Amino acid sequence: MLTIALSKGKLIEPTLELFRRAGYESAGLVGESRRLIFPCPEIDTTFLIVRPSDVPTYVEYGGADAGIVGKDVLMEQDSDVYEPLDLLFGACRISVAALRAEVACDRLSSKVRVATKYPRITERFFNQRGVPVEIIKLYGSIELAPVVGLADRIVDLVETGSTLKAHDLVEVDLIAQSTARFIANRASLKLKHAPLMDMIRRLRKAVADSQETPAMPRGDAGLKRASTSAKDRA
Ligand code: PRP
Repeated sequence: MLTIALSKGKLIEPTLELFRRAGYESAGLVGESRRLIFPCPEIDTTFLIVRPSDVPTYVEYGGADAGIVGKDVLMEQDSDVYEPLDLLFGACRISVAALRAEVACDRLSSKVRVATKYPRITERFFNQRGVPVEIIKLYGSIELAPVVGLADRIVDLVETGSTLKAHDLVEVDLIAQSTARFIANRASLKLKHAPLMDMIRRLRKAVADSQETPAMPRGDAGLKRASTSAKDRA
């Protein structure tokens, strides 16, 4: 029996669609209800519905054998999990943005105040550039911060760009690209090797099949540990 932690929110629908295409029909049971746990004995799998930022924790500590979560969350948390598969959906950028009117403003000689829900990604990015930064941690609606004078910059996800545009903000730096990833618990990969590898194979094939028509960036190849090393952020 495998336990799989799924991110609720924007990733849930494409996740369920991927599982269905991979032949896990009962993944469709996970719908718009308040239930958080969905045992599917016919495919020997239990699905958990958790906050995206909690998925790496469930997987790292063995509350789930595997999970699906955005690369943005993995970069922020640096969890000790394997990341064998880039699922290619949920594509977005982690970007620095500023009010259009203030893009030219040279703040490099003093501390830049940056509002974000990604304090570690933000700190690393500005530290690497030698720019002193004061981080203001928020939990959502990040785009409001520069509008009301709470911050000079934001670091946030950009998908279509419409939220930035609606608040007269523009991207000034790209930190990283993010897509949904399949992650697995280290011990489960040994103790439940056969069923986990079977799931990874089926999901990988479903991802590849969905990429046959449009040209998309290739995902990660072999097993690798999710980390925040420079190569992962490149
Ligand atoms: C995310 C992100 C941006 C927005 C980007 O927010 O934090 O605000 O989506 O999408 P866009 O480029 O297509 O406009 P989310 O909807 O998850 O809510 P939040 O602001 O409360 O985190």
